[in-house]
Amino acid sequence: MCGIVGYAGTADGADAVDVILDGLSRLEYRGYDSAGLAVPTPSMRIHKAEGELSALEDAVPRADLEGTVTGIGHTRWSTHGPPSDVNAHPHSDEGNRVAVVHNGIIENYQQLRDDLVDAGVTFRSETDTEVVPHLIGRALDRGAEPEEAFRLAIDQLEGSYAIAAVFDGSETVYAARQDSPLVVGLGETGTFLASDVPAFVEHTDRVQYVEDGDFVRLTADGAVITDAAGRPVDRATETVAWDPEDAEKSGYDHFMLKEINEQPTALRQCLRGRIDELDGTIDLDDIADLDHDGPIQFVACGTSYHAALFGAERLRTAGVQAHAYLASEYASERVPVDEGTLVVGVTQSGETADTLRALREAARAGATTLAVTNTVASSAARECDHALYIRAGPEIGVAATKTFASQQLALALLAFALSDGPTREELEALRDIPGQVQTILDTTDARAVAEAYADADAYFFIGRGYHYPVALEGALKMKEITYRHAEGFAAGELKHGPLALVTQNTPVFAIVTGNGETARKTIGNVKEVEARDAPIVAITDGESDVTRYADHVLEIPAVGDLGGSVLANVQLQLVAYWVANLLGRSIDKPRNLAKSVTVE
Ligand code: F6R
Repeated sequence: MCGIVGYAGTADGADAVDVILDGLSRLEYRGYDSAGLAVPTPSMRIHKAEGELSALEDAVPRADLEGTVTGIGHTRWSTHGPPSDVNAHPHSDEGNRVAVVHNGIIENYQQLRDDLVDAGVTFRSETDTEVVPHLIGRALDRGAEPEEAFRLAIDQLEGSYAIAAVFDGSETVYAARQDSPLVVGLGETGTFLASDVPAFVEHTDRVQYVEDGDFVRLTADGAVITDAAGRPVDRATETVAWDPEDAEKSGYDHFMLKEINEQPTALRQCLRGRIDELDGTIDLDDIADLDHDGPIQFVACGTSYHAALFGAERLRTAGVQAHAYLASEYASERVPVDEGTLVVGVTQSGETADTLRALREAARAGATTLAVTNTVASSAARECDHALYIRAGPEIGVAATKTFASQQLALALLAFALSDGPTREELEALRDIPGQVQTILDTTDARAVAEAYADADAYFFIGRGYHYPVALEGALKMKEITYRHAEGFAAGELKHGPLALVTQNTPVFAIVTGNGETARKTIGNVKEVEARDAPIVAITDGESDVTRYADHVLEIPAVGDLGGSVLANVQLQLVAYWVANLLGRSIDKPRNLAKSVTVE
């Protein structure tokens, strides 16, 4: 996820550089590893800097850019190429005639890049984006006008993009959208363009949402939106009632709720370009040179450990020897590891000290190491032999939500890539997950469940197989944001002790999918707690008769155990969120916790 902005202003209005820097500061939640801007009049100037936006602010020669009326800007969350000045956007063609910013992933960039290199083009960065200005440049060389050149380039792209471009000496901004957000703002002092409303809500509340396949021509007088054939399309002008602070959360009360709702997008990003529809295989570009068929160990902490448990289970199902370890216990458990072992560190930040230490120990023992992370060029990504990116976009809420779902999906892809590969049915099930998460978000009763049990003494979560890690994760989410006692158990363990804790004021959340042996056994455990008068909340696809014993049901689509565990977790995230909300907790910054734990 990255953030883009564009501006075409009136000469007596706000200064372009101020508008762009200000807009980028409101989009930093979309990425913050590097930033840049381009101002095309009176002649093209491009400034970029690795690091937070303050680095760009320091690098921009404000005096030289005073009075400018047009520009584009970008704040980056790396997907191709580590954060650096060179990889920061905007990117330009060889003659600096055009500058381009992009949010999304261009799936066919390697092919386009190879063709351009064959045609004599020299690339400066490692990004997928840089193909775009060169494609535009080639069209300009052939005599195309800027708008035509822009359209010709966009026509060649496959993947997701919100792209904006400016041309040397021109006050017009051109943009296009496919599967990445883009919105136009119509103001008194000019016309705005951004990945999200917060970038310009200070200047105007009148917006037009750009749709997939749309092209935009932005001038100080307004925006003309057209389709691929150049025919004008009518996009309604809406008024948004957000103040700048709310706007960063897109109108949600908390980043956590926003990020829970971003899961369909995050999961689509994670899958993008990684499933080959034609031959039904998984294609993980990032780790194309990883070839391993020995035992696999996972090391991780907290939520990431729960994802690791899920990944190990998936691999064992495919007959691969795999085990998940708590990174902080890896050394003291004296885990046997050698040159034939692949050790996978699952860490969204890529900076967790316990996980880095375990990975370093494994590397010292000769193991091959792989980081599964959300952060390009994080310590884990740099130090490991290989890195697989989960592409969830930045997560601001301390409680991990969308990164857990993306870890689950990325680990399922990895497990398929390192074993037999998915069947057609499994492939389709993976592809359907983002849409099914959306269905849950649209229909959930989690808030009502939270209201019914906000005063409970404790919360217990049970599940078997793929649902065991989700039971652990449901409990972790509940305790970290509500400060209430919550425990997750393997469902069969209840009777070995925890049952003593169960009362009529301790709801038990049971995850049950399908109607096979695993489901039947969990239902047996549900009956045990029902007999002790505990309220039961069933998270289920309705395939079994668990609903007969349930006081509340949180429904999920029937997709089998693997996909079901991703879906069930979304319901549990929402219950935890609403309990914390009713209790008035500090949801985005729970007490005593930090987003990234860099001490052992
Ligand atoms: C809980 C949470 C933590 C992290 C853990 C590991 O919501 O976020 O349990 O999962 O600190 O962090 P990463 O994944 O950055 O290694």
